Amino acid sequence: MYSKGLFKGEVILVTGGGTGIGYGIAELFIELGGSVIITSRDESNLEKSSKELSKNGECYYKVCDIRKTETIEDLINWIDKKIGKLDILVNNAGGQFPAPAEVMSQKGWSAVINNNLNGTFNMCHSSANKFFIPQKEGNIVNITANVLRGFPGMAHTGAARAGVENLTKTLGQEWAQYNIRINSVAPGIISTSGLNSYPEVIKSFFKNIEKKNLMNRFGTPKDIANAVIFLASPLSSYISGVTIPVDGLDHLSGDRMELFNLIKKLI
Ligand SMILES: NC(=O)c1ccc[n+]([C@@H]2O[C@H](COP(=O)([O-])OP(=O)(O)OC[C@H]3O[C@@H](n4cnc5c(N)ncnc54)[C@H](OP(=O)(O)O)[C@@H]3O)[C@@H](O)[C@H]2O)c1
Repeated sequence: MYSKGLFKGEVILVTGGGTGIGYGIAELFIELGGSVIITSRDESNLEKSSKELSKNGECYYKVCDIRKTETIEDLINWIDKKIGKLDILVNNAGGQFPAPAEVMSQKGWSAVINNNLNGTFNMCHSSANKFFIPQKEGNIVNITANVLRGFPGMAHTGAARAGVENLTKTLGQEWAQYNIRINSVAPGIISTSGLNSYPEVIKSFFKNIEKKNLMNRFGTPKDIANAVIFLASPLSSYISGVTIPVDGLDHLSGDRMELFNLIKKLI
């Protein structure tokens, strides 16, 4: 639906781009003419995905752990040497696990905050300083989650994603002077391999709640990619600092305590 050459000549970095939503985002940018770099921790997966994505255009891959600033610096310097610029950053990498807050360990809490909040800040900070601020142009899209009414059962990711949404507002204001726009997309439940990482009981819970979505379905990586493309393109040139929910209305409807009540029974 977007015009084919929309991102011709542009370089896009998608964290967590080897799987699920990130793969869908990378795929659409490539389809629209962009050169894409995908990154994550698992090199064999990146290699396989990059090979597949390269069938339709230019796709590079590089291992990077967004929690470790030294691997981010390696990635950023590698992009500078190999490609020479970066136009768009999509902060999609992340992960979490279900647990009631009262039994969440300090280690578990910190791991998720470190990944989903600090990792996103690290990527924004390094990309902006190396590329976006000096070139006086840049675009960042963060992938968050449905956290508008809190996230019972996953307090860590709720707090981290709300933090990213607030960071989106702050950086939008601080970096407008450099012609950098930053926005977020908050997915509802999206059918990806990421959902397979949850225990069986949670997976069958997901199956049951799909029917309760007001649009009667889960989202797809393409639903998210379409919103990311809008925010990364000149179509949204007067929009910065916002979060768009892409969730078939889940941010407004549905019982937010359902997941929590289920896992509470299991502990
Ligand atoms: N699917 C949903 O319903 C849903 C809903 C709301 C939000 N989200 C969020 O959307 C994003 C994509 O989710 P998905 O469903 O596509 O799941 P996924 O396939 O598990 O994607 C997560 C990606 O992030 C990468 N990653 C995780 N930690 C990383 C780290 N420290 N450094 C670098 N890469 C890291 C993973 O690769 P490695 O393990 O190889 O590093 C993986 O490629 C995630 O942030 C997820 O939490 C998903």
